[in-house]
Amino acid sequence: MPPPHGDDEINHLDKVFRDMTNSITKSRQREHQFLGMVSHDLRTPLNTVLATLNSLSEGVYGKLTPNGEQRVKQSEAAIERLTRLAKDLLDLEKLSSGTIFLPLHPVSLQEVTRSACEGVSGFSDYKNVVIEVAETNRYVLADQEKLEQVFINLLSNAIKFSPDGATVNIEFRDLSPIAIEIRVTDTGCGISLNDQKTIFEPFTQAEAGVLDNAETQSIRQSGTGLGLAICKTIIDAHGGTIGLESKPGTGSVFFIRLRRAEAPVLVSNLQ
Ligand SMILES: Nc1ncnc2c1ncn2[C@@H]1O[C@H](COP(=O)(O)OP(=O)(O)OP(=O)(O)O)[C@@H](O)[C@H]1O
Ligand SMILES: [Mg+2]
Repeated sequence: MPPPHGDDEINHLDKVFRDMTNSITKSRQREHQFLGMVSHDLRTPLNTVLATLNSLSEGVYGKLTPNGEQRVKQSEAAIERLTRLAKDLLDLEKLSSGTIFLPLHPVSLQEVTRSACEGVSGFSDYKNVVIEVAETNRYVLADQEKLEQVFINLLSNAIKFSPDGATVNIEFRDLSPIAIEIRVTDTGCGISLNDQKTIFEPFTQAEAGVLDNAETQSIRQSGTGLGLAICKTIIDAHGGTIGLESKPGTGSVFFIRLRRAEAPVLVSNLQ
């Protein structure tokens, strides 16, 4: 909209608002650039350190003592965590600044949830958590890789905050002829109403609740609070919605609503 003419108060206010908007936009751009730069520039030295640690543990520089081996393993885990954090920050920056475009195609919910379950199988086996996925032949319009990342984040949280031996369920619902809801349900520690308001913001973690035990508290501290922010940014980029229903001590349901797609028609079916 062109600025109004005339030397009056409205004109002055208009200028003040325009200057403010420009300065907010510029500072957002600088923030995005900074985050992108930091996360990108962190990854190169981290990869070098990781490669050196890998060589050390493989005995390339000589045999390590058992204590040395254990130290190297711990350092490898710490560097891998930092590398993941740098990658998460870069993904978040790219998606939220709109610099990457998501190609949306029909994605099979059965397939994407199956591969997400495979992706977290090491963790679910370790925690002895069973993931039950309902049968479905539904398709949604999505970027398969990014949607898988959303399920991996939600499942990792569900496993992380569930007691050992618990079950996590993935179910599907038709909301309307064009919208599908996917629900990831756990029976873990749950999230208070107050924390639910901010939980999708970056670097946000729920306060320790009265029902938290020492294990849940240390599990909370082990994360960075980026997983859900990434899920929200990805789902927003799909034009979908993500939300939750939760009660402390009872568990949580994270739901995603996406646009339904028709199953792709196989060429052999046309002949
Ligand atoms: N299923 C869940 N049950 C209970 N609390 C949860 C659940 N999912 C998320 N939370 C709460 O929300 C917080 C933010 O989750 P988020 O996935 O963003 O970060 P994180 O898991 O702490 O770290 P990371 O960046 O490694 O994912 C968690 O720290 C936890 O307090
Ligand atoms: Mg997480």
